[in-house]
Amino acid sequence: MSDSKVVVLAAGQGTRMKSKVPKVLHKILDKMMIDYVIEAAKEAGVSSICAVVGHQSAMVKAMIGEKVSEFAVQKEQLGTGHAVMQAERFIGEDGDVLILCGDTPLITAKTIKELFEIHRKNENAATVISVMLKDPTGYGRIKRHNHSFDRVVEHKDATEEERKINEINTGVYVFKASELIASFKELKNDNAQNEYYLTDCLEIIKNKGLNVGVMIARDENEFLGINSKLQLAQAAKVMKNRINEKHLTDGVTIEDPENTYIGKDVIIKPDTVILPGTVIEGKTEIGTDCIIGPNSRITNSIIKDGVIVQSSTLLSAEVDNYTTIGPFAYIRPNSKIGEHVKIGDFVEIKNSTIDDGTKVSHLTYVGDSDVGKNVNFGCGTVTVNYDGKNKFRTTIGDRAFIGCNTNLIAPVVIKEDAFTAAGSTITFDVPEGSLSIARAKQINKPGWREKKEQ
Ligand code: UD1
Ligand code: CA
Repeated sequence: MSDSKVVVLAAGQGTRMKSKVPKVLHKILDKMMIDYVIEAAKEAGVSSICAVVGHQSAMVKAMIGEKVSEFAVQKEQLGTGHAVMQAERFIGEDGDVLILCGDTPLITAKTIKELFEIHRKNENAATVISVMLKDPTGYGRIKRHNHSFDRVVEHKDATEEERKINEINTGVYVFKASELIASFKELKNDNAQNEYYLTDCLEIIKNKGLNVGVMIARDENEFLGINSKLQLAQAAKVMKNRINEKHLTDGVTIEDPENTYIGKDVIIKPDTVILPGTVIEGKTEIGTDCIIGPNSRITNSIIKDGVIVQSSTLLSAEVDNYTTIGPFAYIRPNSKIGEHVKIGDFVEIKNSTIDDGTKVSHLTYVGDSDVGKNVNFGCGTVTVNYDGKNKFRTTIGDRAFIGCNTNLIAPVVIKEDAFTAAGSTITFDVPEGSLSIARAKQINKPGWREKKEQ
């Protein structure tokens, strides 16, 4: 199917979203609606993709970028047929072209493949996917003649009798490219909406005596078109369940799938447990025997085996085997945390490496730092990495012991096996094995209270 191509319609405004963001850019979990459509096409083996953009086209183009092969611009939104016409050069005369809508994110690669198979097996000039709906209000209805396809009638153009038809047009089609192009010449806009309907191309092709087939799909969810935030939420629920079911089938424990939000590209190995309130996004990979959650957010991170993450946020981080994180830790981008590390409560790590066996147990900020193995951070340590203009790095050698409430004024190096006394503000490097005390000496004034109160 590598010679196939797809036109994705994404020019509409999406007025009912009541948003300044164009409809197809709205997100379901961690991806834009249109990403799912593009990925389904690619997964089905269709690699040549043209997106028709119009409303806020600059923004839509910028957000879709390299994910499609090219864009066609529909300056005025004069209907779905008119939209596809803008991609005429892309469609060309060879092979078949699939048409998808950017606001139908639940379509699957499996269905697209099936559509191509039926289309080719029956040597159709066009094949449309239909589905039976209890409530077909708003959709175009499939009219049949002697059981075969006759035409699509839009809800707004339909008679009372026609509105009783439950078989609807999903808006997903494959056309023989040359026949689709030829049909444009006869396309008119003499209908209730004064639009050029793509659906009329089917009728034009059928009237030429060519085969127009209908594939009746089973799962109506796949064709849920998103017009409002309510439908967006409904689609998100379907997508979430679909992804969670896949992980459950693959051996991941998800305690409460209703309250677990995992992005489509996330990889999780079996025997990991995901606890409620957890959001896992982007290109995240999680190993086996981990416990993630409750209430954690992990984005674009690599987590190895046996890791525990409790009520914490990890962004673009790497965490090695058997490390524990949280509760209430914040691991910010470009952080690399080794094996058997402990990152405890109210600890923030940013742009730092923390080597194996190190403990940062409580109330500590480690930013722009390179920390060795088996280092111990006392409670309340701060790496002072910013002078208001520039950021500087802190380096801490293996087995160093940082006393409670130490400020490490970067750039500074604490060598191997060094100690810093609690409450110290360290501005100069500390040599290997030494103790550094940098705080005012304690003075006791005997009888002071009694004198004061005289
Ligand atoms: C369309 C079908 C209808 C079908 C329904 C399925 C037509 C005439 N009708 O109706 O039979 O049941 O989809 O969901 O095709 N778009 C453009 N430019 C335009 C108009 C639309 O790019 O000028 C895009 C929209 O952004 C959207 C898609 O085409 O992604 C579908 O348009 P929409 O107006 O939602 O079509 P429906 O009225 O739902
Ligand atoms: Ca419409």
